[in-house]
Amino acid sequence: MRTPILLATLITVILTSCGESKPTVVESSETAEVAKYATPIHSFAHPNKAVVTHLNLDVNVDFDNQIISGSATYDIDVASGETRIAFDTRNLEITSVSVDGEETKNWWLGEEKPFMGVPLEVEISDASKVVSIVYTTAKGAEALQWLSPQQTAGKEHPFLFTQSQAILARSWLPCQDSPGIRYTYEATVKVPKDLMAVMSATNPTEIDSTGVYHFEMKQPIPSYLMALSVGDLRFAPIGDETGVYAEPSVLESAAYEFADMQKMLEAAEALYGDYAWERYDVIVLPPSFPFGGMENPRLTFATPTILAGDRSLTALVAHELAHSWSGNLVTNSTWNDFWLNEGFTVYFERRIMEDVYGKDYANMLAILGWQDLQHTLEDFKDTPDDTKLKLDLDNRDPDDGMSDIAYEKGYFLLRTLEENVGREKFDVFLKDHFTNNAFQTMTTETFLDNLKAQLFDGSDEKYAELKVKDWVYRPGLPSNVVAVESPLFAQVEAQLELFLTTGQTEMMDTANWTTHQWLHFLRTMPEAVSMEHLTALDKSFGFTKTGNSEIAAEWFVLAIENDYRTADAAIEGFLIRVGRRKFLTPIYGALVTADPTMERARSIYEKARPNYHSVSTNTLDEMLDI
Ligand code: BES
Ligand code: ZN
Repeated sequence: MRTPILLATLITVILTSCGESKPTVVESSETAEVAKYATPIHSFAHPNKAVVTHLNLDVNVDFDNQIISGSATYDIDVASGETRIAFDTRNLEITSVSVDGEETKNWWLGEEKPFMGVPLEVEISDASKVVSIVYTTAKGAEALQWLSPQQTAGKEHPFLFTQSQAILARSWLPCQDSPGIRYTYEATVKVPKDLMAVMSATNPTEIDSTGVYHFEMKQPIPSYLMALSVGDLRFAPIGDETGVYAEPSVLESAAYEFADMQKMLEAAEALYGDYAWERYDVIVLPPSFPFGGMENPRLTFATPTILAGDRSLTALVAHELAHSWSGNLVTNSTWNDFWLNEGFTVYFERRIMEDVYGKDYANMLAILGWQDLQHTLEDFKDTPDDTKLKLDLDNRDPDDGMSDIAYEKGYFLLRTLEENVGREKFDVFLKDHFTNNAFQTMTTETFLDNLKAQLFDGSDEKYAELKVKDWVYRPGLPSNVVAVESPLFAQVEAQLELFLTTGQTEMMDTANWTTHQWLHFLRTMPEAVSMEHLTALDKSFGFTKTGNSEIAAEWFVLAIENDYRTADAAIEGFLIRVGRRKFLTPIYGALVTADPTMERARSIYEKARPNYHSVSTNTLDEMLDI
């Protein structure tokens, strides 16, 4: 039983300085009780009444039937007088429930809500300590992607991976699926004998011939960081605390690509404090993984589309590593505060890249981010509320909040603050932020209070002058946003100009251009490009055949927009092989614009869809009206 924290004096209302947040203090006539947890908005759980503190997961991974089944046993903490605990489930079959080791019939599944799933309520008493739920996942469980051998690099063994963020964890285990609720976990996972299982926890480095793996996560994490991958995996060390998992045929190129990982980890620690998770490894998944990366603690899940062969796309590793502080250590309280996870992480990512590869490199990343932000602002011009940093996702799928606003507007706020107060002061503030709030959740309002108190020494003037409230609570971009300049991109612009006036690639000086310069080159092209120009560029620079996924995706959009049909086969091949949503939406989008009957887009999608994770099909089904 948990005793509520009582305040001796009567508190009527506590509002934050900007008055925009809901008070976190619950009133009562005599005393006021400080609610430990903010009310979850995308979970059925009531953590202030009954909350999980530890999970013991015991499951079997059945590739033949494509289901996970077993038990999730939770230690719980119940407030005095409470008689129910609520969990989130989505398409789970619940077989039985027990409380403190005794099976009970007193549990209920509630009504299904779109994208939220079904609440599971269990009767308990305030003396109850353990709830165990026996369950099976559904065939099409949203978090899970079951791959046939054909969809893997080795083509011999099947593969499974999970994607829990934002609210898909509940489709593979019953949980209190709110980023505001943390717990430690241990797991026993049984898989086919020739496969390895890895989780967001302590991991094996070799295949265990029993097919049974044990895991432990000693640091408390929210459910969206629960993760499991099963496949024909091998491990290669990189540094003392870093390494990579991949299928055998991918391992060597992955280890080559991520050679600087240990350096990145050391740069990150030097910036914002000790790494809290002991090891940092990356697993390279098959290409249908719907994201670039996912910051599962101790084990980032990554797309193979960053294996460019020249280490040029590893900012993504810096990004997921940075989440070990921003997100995994200090976690957004609800998905309305998503910018606290992602904006901070983009800022931290670029600071790591600056330390390892220099300022010019980091500024190229910042400008590409700026361009993405401008596009998003344009795309969202009819829904300006979605361009606020603090979102209102009540009754909406949190996936709707996953835009460049959180990432890039968030980044530019932090960079603007840094440039105004000076880097030294800003770094002290950020380091304190991570140290003081480690393993806790953060609301936008608490962050702003801390910002004013610590970064501006309580000064209202500075806070107003830097338009912090406008940044967070108003649409669009405040006028005080800092500008970023890049001499390396200036070179690109000059060469592009030369090409556009002469039509000759031979006169261009592109020696030593990096991936980011090429991206800038393609992005800065005029809207309409002639067939002669496209043909000349492709002939000289081999864009259609490039093995660099970022350059390919950019080129394919340009090719579709300008009806450059030479790239057709490459485009179709890419869309069938790769399931990373960030690439799919612009390419399918261009196909739809080029052919509004959608015939071309749909005929490729029909072939490609079986290779996509639910995250991607969700978006594309809607886009293509399927
Ligand atoms: N945590 C995100 C991915 C995510 C966000 C999954 C919201 C589900 C819901 C991850 O850290 C991320 O931001 N990935 C980016 C890469 C990054 C370099 C911007 C991606 O996948 O593109
Ligand atoms: Zn991220």
